[in-house]
Amino acid sequence: MRGLKDKVVIITGGAGGIGAALSARFAAEGSKVAIFDLNAASADEVVEGIKTNGGTAIGCAVDITDHDAVNEAVARIEATLGPVDVLVNNAGWDHADRFVNTTPALWQKLISINLVGPLNLHHAVLKGMLERGHGRIVNIASDAGRVGSSGESVYSACKGGIIAFTKTIARETARKKINVNVVCPGPTDTALFKDFAGEGESGDKLRGALEKAIPFGRLGQPEDVVGAVCFLASDDASFITGQVISVSGGLTMAG
Ligand SMILES: NC(=O)c1ccc[n+]([C@@H]2O[C@H](COP(=O)([O-])OP(=O)(O)OC[C@H]3O[C@@H](n4cnc5c(N)ncnc54)[C@H](O)[C@@H]3O)[C@@H](O)[C@H]2O)c1
Repeated sequence: MRGLKDKVVIITGGAGGIGAALSARFAAEGSKVAIFDLNAASADEVVEGIKTNGGTAIGCAVDITDHDAVNEAVARIEATLGPVDVLVNNAGWDHADRFVNTTPALWQKLISINLVGPLNLHHAVLKGMLERGHGRIVNIASDAGRVGSSGESVYSACKGGIIAFTKTIARETARKKINVNVVCPGPTDTALFKDFAGEGESGDKLRGALEKAIPFGRLGQPEDVVGAVCFLASDDASFITGQVISVSGGLTMAG
């Protein structure tokens, strides 16, 4: 993909299912990857894998809900790798339940990770991007934020919020040649999906029903998501901003 070589790319949640695939792909494109994740041990594993394949990556143990910690981590990465060219807001968390059964404490946790976390990252990198007149941001939302999803009310609200936020930031920053777009995975086979679907018979039932409903006849794999993200971060997408692309095997076909 054009324009990714030597670029400094922050990937939040880069130790998880989709994030690890994204980290490996950006590194394979020649980008210098900084993995921001709560899970330091898994981030180190991803970093080691990238280095074994000749790529450049650094792990950064950081909680994206902590504004000061995010600012410090971004400053540290910029001092080591150089100014951030690309930000991929991928970290996320979910807990499935009907809205009437949820509590304000759960809402707060969902909002902190899925909405405030990405705001913190935008806040930390955007000023520099505006000064340099260059930058790419790809926000990983969810089809739940486009079409809704039973059991994911507050998560959906956060993801819908990220979509609206992206469009606004895209408008505010376009004159400075900053592109901000959204990729919405559909059901994708990761730890997050396993937690959502649940164990045993009911989990298998949901998985089977989704496989039937998805036109391509299977769940997404983390590697299915990376192409759209790398494209939006590449020079081939330099005239695209404020857009939303679903990667869901056709499960949703939003206009
Ligand atoms: N898997 C799916 O079916 C699916 C569907 C739609 C959207 N998504 C979105 O894709 C993105 C990646 O999800 P995934 O399926 O790979 O999940 P995952 O659970 O495999 O990975 C999520 C990663 O985010 C990290 N993380 C969570 N909270 C954090 C915090 N506060 N600070 C730093 N890191 C934190 C976790 O440690 C983990 O490594 C998420 O934004 C998710 O909402 C996933």
